[in-house]
Amino acid sequence: VSGDLDRRSFLKGTALAGLGAGLGLGAAPPGEAASVPREPVPTAYAAAGGFTAPALPQVRLGFVGVGLQGGGHVENFLKIDGVEIVALADIDAARAEEVASWVVAAGRKKPALYTRGEHDFLRLVERDDLDLVLTATPWEWHVPVCVAAMNAGKHAATEVPAAYTVDGCWELVETAERTLRHCVMLENCCYGRSEMMVLKMVRSGLLGELLHAEGAYIHDLRAIKLDTKNEGLWRWQHSLTRNGNLYPTHGLGPVAQCLDINRGDAFDYLVSMSSPVRGLGAWAREHLPDSDPRRRMDFVLGDMNSTLIKTQRGRTILVQHDTTTPRPYSRLNLVQGTRGTFSGYPDKIFVEGRTPTHAWESIESYRAEFDHPLWAANHAAAAGAGHGGMDFMEDFRLIAALRAGTPMDMDVYDAAAWSVICELSERSVAGRSQPQTVPDFTRGRWPLRTPLGIVS
Ligand SMILES: NC(=O)c1ccc[n+]([C@@H]2O[C@H](COP(=O)([O-])OP(=O)(O)OC[C@H]3O[C@@H](n4cnc5c(N)ncnc54)[C@H](O)[C@@H]3O)[C@@H](O)[C@H]2O)c1
Repeated sequence: VSGDLDRRSFLKGTALAGLGAGLGLGAAPPGEAASVPREPVPTAYAAAGGFTAPALPQVRLGFVGVGLQGGGHVENFLKIDGVEIVALADIDAARAEEVASWVVAAGRKKPALYTRGEHDFLRLVERDDLDLVLTATPWEWHVPVCVAAMNAGKHAATEVPAAYTVDGCWELVETAERTLRHCVMLENCCYGRSEMMVLKMVRSGLLGELLHAEGAYIHDLRAIKLDTKNEGLWRWQHSLTRNGNLYPTHGLGPVAQCLDINRGDAFDYLVSMSSPVRGLGAWAREHLPDSDPRRRMDFVLGDMNSTLIKTQRGRTILVQHDTTTPRPYSRLNLVQGTRGTFSGYPDKIFVEGRTPTHAWESIESYRAEFDHPLWAANHAAAAGAGHGGMDFMEDFRLIAALRAGTPMDMDVYDAAAWSVICELSERSVAGRSQPQTVPDFTRGRWPLRTPLGIVS
């Protein structure tokens, strides 16, 4: 990993200085890791409005990993027009059969099953009747599945984070560009009703010029991480070897869209710190039987990680991660501008000249004016779907873009920029909070790319 970063830094310092100057970006500071294409970015991927692929009359889907979250996606796609569920891969054959039975119960053909072990998805991606492969596997499989799918000519969609190493992020970007396929990270929180309302407030100018934002994943997962099923089978292992922000994208994605990251602004560098490590080990000793080896494990993931990102335009973003202390759920979801501030959990707002007192105000009187048109039109369809309906909205938008041949709301550059915070935060924590340059996966094109609009 470090070798690759060094190689990229070296290239940045030499070959690309000219491109940066051409875009008015200035030269990169000496020795800083950044990004250089090994090959020119294909024209289709260089479009300011984002990459588009030919419209698909219907989307033929293959799934890899149909546990809790993957199963939820299957349920959503059964309710969306123009989708055919062709194949499912899971190492748990009983679960694959269970999810396949839902497809049959919906009056569809039984999907083909791929249950011959961890690499059986390689057979699935080779089918010639698939357009899109969606993975909701444990984190270590996201990059291998997406890359195999794109190399086999399929679009790829992955659960979060898309990758948790710098190299993994580059691999997704470079494979998507080379194969001319979409690679979408399914960041459902970008489709939360509050998050989309904030985006509309920002686009309407209600909060003025944005200066600062905060996002988080604060979710007490102690029992889930140390369960003996689903995420309890794999997620805790990351707490044994990694100390940083392991899950940055839920909090970061929505505020990054407000700040036009990759579309007018870009992450520049970050610094990160972690608190002491207490929660998971204490919970294990209090709740697991003596025979469970996790009682005696030395976890290294600090309970609360705080990462501060500086953007190219000077704005600041706080991103936090805490899955191991007793604390109510929050993604913070704070966006602060020169005229006002929105803050989540619970939602509240202050707008200079509009809020009557110098105190937070309920957002209810803003809802009619700023509810996002997608939610206003589709809230009934989303009702009852996973995570308050935002998962349905995300899957609906993914299929709509593929069928219309329009750009994705979140493209491979967003997937990479939001996910790369994982390894960079770990590096900063390990190095007494030393700044880490965030690679520019757009390779200098972020000032030219079109900001996300208010789609309806
Ligand atoms: N966006 C969200 O709100 C959200 C919520 C939950 C989970 N997730 C993400 O979804 C992913 C899955 O999480 P989950 O809670 O569903 O976990 P899970 O453990 O319930 O499901 C994972 C599934 O993948 C299968 N699997 C493991 N390795 C595989 C392989 N090599 N090939 C095929 N199948 C394989 C498992 O058998 C299991 O059925 C994770 O990346 C997680 O971060 C996202």
